Amino acid sequence: MSTTLIRNAAVVLPQGISSADVVLDDQHITQIADPGSVPGADDIVDATGLHLIPGVIDDQVHFRDPGSTHKEDLSTGSQACAKGGITTFLEMPNTKPATITLEALDAKLQLASTKCVVNYGFYVGATVDNVEVLQQASRTPGIKIFIGSSTGDLLVDQQEALERIFAETQLPICAHCEDETTIRANTERIGSNPQLADHSRIRDHNAALVSTRRAVDLAERHQHRFHVLHVSTAQEAEFLRTTSDLITAEACPHHLLFSVDDYERLGSLVQMNPSIKTADDCTALWEALRDGSINVIATDHAPHTLEEKSRPYPQSPSGLPAVENSLALMLNSVNQGRCTLEQVVQWMCESPAGVWNISNKGRIQQGFDADLVLVDMHKRHTIRNEDQLTKCGWSPWDGVTLTGQPVRTWVMGRTVFVNGKVNTEIRGQEVLYDR
Ligand code: DOR
Repeated sequence: MSTTLIRNAAVVLPQGISSADVVLDDQHITQIADPGSVPGADDIVDATGLHLIPGVIDDQVHFRDPGSTHKEDLSTGSQACAKGGITTFLEMPNTKPATITLEALDAKLQLASTKCVVNYGFYVGATVDNVEVLQQASRTPGIKIFIGSSTGDLLVDQQEALERIFAETQLPICAHCEDETTIRANTERIGSNPQLADHSRIRDHNAALVSTRRAVDLAERHQHRFHVLHVSTAQEAEFLRTTSDLITAEACPHHLLFSVDDYERLGSLVQMNPSIKTADDCTALWEALRDGSINVIATDHAPHTLEEKSRPYPQSPSGLPAVENSLALMLNSVNQGRCTLEQVVQWMCESPAGVWNISNKGRIQQGFDADLVLVDMHKRHTIRNEDQLTKCGWSPWDGVTLTGQPVRTWVMGRTVFVNGKVNTEIRGQEVLYDR
């Protein structure tokens, strides 16, 4: 067993930021002590001028493995995570095959154990007739329902099937909420020659609100834990202020930082489901994060190749990659005065651990897993397509200069990213859940 001492960092602890020495072994944080009080360790890291935060837990990524590994796979996706300060990801079931059977879930977990440099968990996907699978699955954070369609063919839109899933299962549920009926009516109204900007008129505010209300109604009637994925509108944020403790919610960097005004500059690179909305919606999402009605920031990392993205709308697929830049974007937001570093840690580390009952992660605390990130709050850097580790090889933030960057990442006590390089020999572990 080897030990590491991280010295002189400003450590973001649950009770606030303070100078401390932090000691790790190959698994856990073993000691948090006064600065200079720990005499030594096998490895000593001088972190003067840097902040130490818990590893980010990204509760919504699409890594395309198995099935669409020309876009991403579990190796490239997890390496991009390590670079971005994400030490744990929870991956969505819209792969090929979809993760809708226990066999497919086990196969993904097995594949991940051989390919992932960070820790991993996989949702089980709901269909209209797999309630037994949803009842039996245990090695999973929870159930994902596509109440609105997106990439892939997972869709559960029928009320009867939804009632059954909420009534007869125990695992926490999360959902993609965009109302199919509204989307179809908008598509018809806009006609046979839709342009890219129509994406936000087809998947409009109402589509998001109607579906989120419907899902929350199901959860509250059946007293079921429910997490609203990728909230995109001011109206949903307002509605979430009125919901019970059973309901948690998430926002994504693209909905916080892009608006419909960006279609002209970035085209289908910002075509997403739910669609990006207006600058006023961005402001409302920030406010909802600050007042706690939205709890989590996750990426919805959804890579497609540039060739696929360059197809004319609506053949261009929805989705953009973000895992290697999400933390840096949020650190930059701290430097712009939009939020504090403690809030970023709350939204990206501690809250997702709580929402998904993840054991032993999300905080810097003695006995917790040694998933940690050193960040340099002053480091300026420019995001470049050519530097991206995601297999799709581009970022919608290409050319954007940020202040604040993750510079070193530990997964279970071992350095997986330092000096701009990922150690591809490291393997993460399957996430465990307190139930
Ligand atoms: O735009 C999206 N693309 N939204 C999703 O929820 C799914 C994703 C994908 O898998 O491509």
